[in-house]
Amino acid sequence: MVTKRIVAVSTDPDTQQYVGRACNELLIADDLSEGLDIIGTACPDLVVMDARHTPADVARLIESIEQRGLNIPVAVTHRDNLNVAPDAYIAAGAWVCLPGAAMAEHLRSSCEGPVKQTPRAELEDMAHSSHNYDKRFYVDASAAAVNMVGVSESMTNTLGLLTLVAESQCNPVLIVGETGTGKELAARAVHHVRHPQAPFVAINCAALTASLLESELFGHVKGSFTGADRDKTGLLELAGDGTVFLDEISEMPLDLQAKLLRVLQERVFRKVGGTESVACRATIVASSNRNLLRESLDNRFRRDLYYRLSVCPITMPSLSDPARRQDIGLLAEHFLRTSTIHPARSRRIRCLTRLAVEALERHSWPGNVRELRNVIERAILHETTDKIGLSSIQGHLAEYAALAGDGPGLPVKDFSLAKAERELIGRALQQTEGQKSRAAGLLGISRATLYDKLRLYGLGQYKAGNAAGQTANPLDAAEPIGASA
Ligand SMILES: Nc1ncnc2c1ncn2[C@@H]1O[C@H](COP(=O)(O)OP(=O)(O)OP(=O)(O)O)[C@@H](O)[C@H]1O
Ligand SMILES: [Mg+2]
Repeated sequence: MVTKRIVAVSTDPDTQQYVGRACNELLIADDLSEGLDIIGTACPDLVVMDARHTPADVARLIESIEQRGLNIPVAVTHRDNLNVAPDAYIAAGAWVCLPGAAMAEHLRSSCEGPVKQTPRAELEDMAHSSHNYDKRFYVDASAAAVNMVGVSESMTNTLGLLTLVAESQCNPVLIVGETGTGKELAARAVHHVRHPQAPFVAINCAALTASLLESELFGHVKGSFTGADRDKTGLLELAGDGTVFLDEISEMPLDLQAKLLRVLQERVFRKVGGTESVACRATIVASSNRNLLRESLDNRFRRDLYYRLSVCPITMPSLSDPARRQDIGLLAEHFLRTSTIHPARSRRIRCLTRLAVEALERHSWPGNVRELRNVIERAILHETTDKIGLSSIQGHLAEYAALAGDGPGLPVKDFSLAKAERELIGRALQQTEGQKSRAAGLLGISRATLYDKLRLYGLGQYKAGNAAGQTANPLDAAEPIGASA
């Protein structure tokens, strides 16, 4: 029997592929922090990390998992030809440390049922039971199953539509909304309603080059291009009867959009370089924080694909919507309870003060729920009492406001568009401690655009500081931009 749900903390396509074959549901995280988010939400049976992570990273992840009260083994895998010391990983607490092929075999042969203590079925029963989720936080059991907090009227309406679509045969499903509004969580909720036992595979269309994206999605046959030294199964096939989540679909290259349209219409596709038709049974969920109609009018997105996707689009409400005000305090409480940023401190902090919640309710939240989570996590690090008070959040709210242009912002002297942009990017990186996905989210641009701009402004080498609160200012390290800026 294969393991039901695995989180792979790995950007290596080979690792993702063979781990995907050994489970019913593969959730992919690019880095440790995303991994922790997904682990907290999905409660997987096993976590697999690749050996690009150090033993210290592995120890840190295991510690954070345990501090959440979870008992999930972490396996480490590496390429045969890499000089890896398995003992160091085992000493750090890894379950096993094996090269790729051996790990695939190990996963196939040794995972008799769920490897964690709480059986997954029990967790699902808990989520489904109307008595086992806290109605103060969640609209319904599907929202609770993916930890989607919010009971305001606008969340209730959105989740009502989401459930309706999830229970229908609608395929593809389109989820739109500003950055950080929970589009990926919504995709997971659709998956949970439709086929929770099947694989959920996600791919960020902005993160890969056109040819990589194509072979990730469709797979390829051996010899179809230089470097294709063996057959590769694409995500559309790996997902089986499950869900393929196409994140940031607006960033998909136009010729690939045409190929995707054909899959959506004919439900079959061919691998790159292949001649046989492969059936696609998966639900395709696409998300975008851009207005796809606008993009299609500007010829950046295919009009026919836009119409094919937007049968019943679900719009995630922004947190700045006054109708979502009552969700803000609940979300803040939720992040305080679930954050892994400093478990000892989170345990000591009991709640937020009324004044702090009121300040949060007044803020405009350009980065939506993600921004709120950042503010709470920073407050956890700064707060020295047992309540998060105004003083622990005010500074961060002001910083965010300045970043979004609400506050005093940049000095007017030396003002230029390029300088302002570089400054904002630098601040966003500082704010997110170097996490480029989050920084892009905060800035409302795709990760690909952020990378372009990092190169342009010489901010590409920026790395976050080691200790929280000691984040280096990327602008200090970067080359000054040219006189034209
Ligand atoms: N309603 C919610 N309840 C709890 N957490 C939420 C909610 N909405 C969003 N989040 C959290 O906020 C973060 C951003 O959510 P998510 O990645 O789903 O947003 P997104 O809309 O896909 O953002 P982007 O457009 O930048 O990709 C995640 O950590 C997610 O868990
Ligand atoms: Mg997203």
